Amino acid sequence: MLKLVVLISGTGSNLRSLLESIDASRGTDRPIEAEVVAIGADTPAANLELAAERGIPSFVVRPADYPDRAAWGDALLERVLEFEPDATILSGFMRLVPPRFVEALAPRLLNTHPAYLPEFPGAHAVRDALAAGADRTGATVMVVDNGVDTGPIIEQRRIPILPGDDEAALHERIKVVERELLTDTVRGLAEGTVNLKEIAE
Ligand code: GRF
Repeated sequence: MLKLVVLISGTGSNLRSLLESIDASRGTDRPIEAEVVAIGADTPAANLELAAERGIPSFVVRPADYPDRAAWGDALLERVLEFEPDATILSGFMRLVPPRFVEALAPRLLNTHPAYLPEFPGAHAVRDALAAGADRTGATVMVVDNGVDTGPIIEQRRIPILPGDDEAALHERIKVVERELLTDTVRGLAEGTVNLKEIAE
């Protein structure tokens, strides 16, 4: 059983979708042999109800409680390692994790991004795609490295930008694909068809 720790900062809708996909697969002939063993956040404002409603352990490690980013990253890493994950997923986690965190967990450290990387990296990918007047964008799941959304790409898919799209509508359409890519990747990790070491080489 693949043990996952997932880190969120916001609504956690992509995490909710992953949890529901794993649950739903249990009733099929191809169950996803993965389990979210803990949910972490950088702020108590994150939707940790996702953990409480499922009896999953959760933790919050707030940057404001530490003297600097490196110390925060070390504290966050310590909490993640308590659960001995086979992979750690950043899902709407809106912080840049520090080098020691990446060093300790990558390449079994994944993130999803609401753009077709390397297009539109950073925290405003959806808005940037609209502002650029692009007619298409995408969603990407990748291995985290020390850059901003520069890690090795595991899977990505194109998504059209439709006339009249505003940021919210486009982001929702992108999230649907992000969720599919994330579920595919978790399934691939559990079944051994996704090899993160090879991808990250
Ligand atoms: C996702 O699009 C993710 O790629 C981006 O923020 C969104 C997270 O949404 N970083 P949610 O918290 O899963 O609803």
